[in-house]
Amino acid sequence: MSTVQAGASVHRSHGGFELEAIEKASVDELRALQLARLKASVGHAYQNVPHYRQSFDAAGVRPQDLRTLEDLGRFPFTVKTDLRDNYPFRMFAVPRDKVVRIHASSGTTGKPTVVGYTAADIDNWANLVARSIRASGARPGDIVHVSYGYGLFTGGLGAHYGAERLGLTVVPFGGGQTERQVQLIRDLAPDIIMVTPSYMLAIADEFEREGLDPKACSLRIGIFGAEPWTNEMRREIEGRMAIDAVDIYGLSEVMGPGVANECIETKDGPTIWEDHFYPEIIHPETGEVLPEGEFGELVFTSLTKEALPIIRYRTRDLTRLLPGTARTMRRMQKITGRSDDMMIVRGVNVFPSQIEELILQRPNLSPHYVCELGKEGPMDTLTVRVELKPEAHTDGSGVRGAETALAHAIKSYIGVNAKVKVEPTGSIERSVGKAKRVIDHRPKGD
Ligand code: DLL
Repeated sequence: MSTVQAGASVHRSHGGFELEAIEKASVDELRALQLARLKASVGHAYQNVPHYRQSFDAAGVRPQDLRTLEDLGRFPFTVKTDLRDNYPFRMFAVPRDKVVRIHASSGTTGKPTVVGYTAADIDNWANLVARSIRASGARPGDIVHVSYGYGLFTGGLGAHYGAERLGLTVVPFGGGQTERQVQLIRDLAPDIIMVTPSYMLAIADEFEREGLDPKACSLRIGIFGAEPWTNEMRREIEGRMAIDAVDIYGLSEVMGPGVANECIETKDGPTIWEDHFYPEIIHPETGEVLPEGEFGELVFTSLTKEALPIIRYRTRDLTRLLPGTARTMRRMQKITGRSDDMMIVRGVNVFPSQIEELILQRPNLSPHYVCELGKEGPMDTLTVRVELKPEAHTDGSGVRGAETALAHAIKSYIGVNAKVKVEPTGSIERSVGKAKRVIDHRPKGD
């Protein structure tokens, strides 16, 4: 077995609050480190994973063809079905007994996707989540309440190990039991919460249901991710909770939470931890690598992973790369959509986040919403169900007015006809993890 980390110094046990040297490195130093690590990672994948050997051979490329970072564009992509086809362990590049942890995502169809980590992978992951929590504004002595789900989902354990690595006090709550979440937040007075933005709203609702002001609670920072959320949602949550809301991004195939994280001083899109992950943006249809700054599908190559090196993984997340601000490493624009969530309504592409922005611009509407797709004869229909804010004392005509106004905004800003249903508080199903924003009632196969 070749070890990817040979020659590349990987920081161990980084528990400090100072920036790591690599966070302050010049772009040239960073690119040199990336190239060295990329060569090792591509070689490791080719030598130890039959899938990569076959796909590289079929594409006529060898690890030694990688001489510059741009050469990566000649290598084949990896997609989710490659992991499914090699279920459960055949994408692993190390003997199974070197794998100390498994996570899995519950795929909506068929088999789950299984990912694995060596002890060094877990160590790197903890360091990167620690770096993410520090970038989010953590201070020594903070208490972190983790409401991401524990278990096969990477959110809970990923957050947990990172907070511990930073030397903070962790409350490993997990998802659900919203009343108890509120009780423990009141009793233990955490400084930081790590949770999906949609479940944060459900927790805020529970505070208010109990007659408590969520602004008055101890929380100072929320580290939100695992699902798309807009800057309008950031303002909504920050206003309601009196906290700083920062964005954490990641995916299980690439590691889990902590692939990228926003820096609190700029809050201008997650900084990609480029010393461990090499990003590209490609055209979602042609697969062509797009020039820096253009909008397209995000692709990641792992630079240091041992158990599951991942080469050019197509995330399906749509964004663009932006130059570094708070760090030299590049940022990604806040992800507002996945190609899987894109609705095509009478030929117009619509993302739930576009609807979210318009909803949150209306003072009497709450951020709880769902988009339902249906058919009327041959025509697609889009129904947006959204709740009134509990404090909006609106009568029947006010409700109809709100419906017409939102439908009008959707037509003028997005260009589709949508039916809007404004419903009483509590009508839209709450999630304790990732919110489901699109329900497709159209017959399958259309
Ligand atoms: O959701 C890992 C994670 C846990 C990230 C907790 C952040 C916090 P998966 O279940 O594999 O992993 O889902 C990955 O979730 O491809 C995106 O579509 C979406 N996603 C994750 N973070 C964000 C974010 C975790 N900050 C998929 N903004 C990704 C938008 C996000 N979408």
